[in-house]
Amino acid sequence: MPTIFDELLDLFHAYLAGVDNDLVSQEVARISWKMPARPLEPRALGCLGHLDRIAELAPTDAKPLARLVADQRGALRWGQTYTAADFGQDFIDNYGWLEVFGTRGHFVNDEVAAGLLILGPDIVYPDHHHIAEEIYIPLTGGTEWRMGEGGFQLRDAGEVIHHASNVRHAMRTGEEPLMALYLWRGGPLAQKSTIGPMVDLGGRG
Ligand SMILES: [Fe+2]
Repeated sequence: MPTIFDELLDLFHAYLAGVDNDLVSQEVARISWKMPARPLEPRALGCLGHLDRIAELAPTDAKPLARLVADQRGALRWGQTYTAADFGQDFIDNYGWLEVFGTRGHFVNDEVAAGLLILGPDIVYPDHHHIAEEIYIPLTGGTEWRMGEGGFQLRDAGEVIHHASNVRHAMRTGEEPLMALYLWRGGPLAQKSTIGPMVDLGGRG
């Protein structure tokens, strides 16, 4: 009998396999999809209240995944890396992630971490960066993303956004919530991001 976690991994894989993008296809091919399950205690967060709207907003290809996550939210272990001291209480009440696989997710993977990020409406996720290379695919549209020195750009559901190692990035939602699929590779996979603009560590005279 497949568990809801098997179903989650299958739908996550199926969604990614359907994305028409070379970077994503390479990742899908590199990942070994037979991963051992990791038993985790469920953990709920305030942001889960946005899941019904997210499941409504998700386009056809992302809807089975969004629907499963909404229906099974109570069985899943939701996490936060930040605290109210980082970005304020409103952020904390409207932010969370689900690690599907990785060093602490529902399936064990030491090479790649992947999961789903939720942000409620009218939330700014300020500039941050990390060593791991990252691919994001928003599963709902209408949010703005920026990277490096660029300005905010509206991104539609299904667009592939690539953050190279240590490139700073930020996002902000509008009147609707966001769910975005993420893949992390090549750095400490459970590392808290560094907040703020890039810091020159000096030592170059
Ligand atoms: Fe990131």
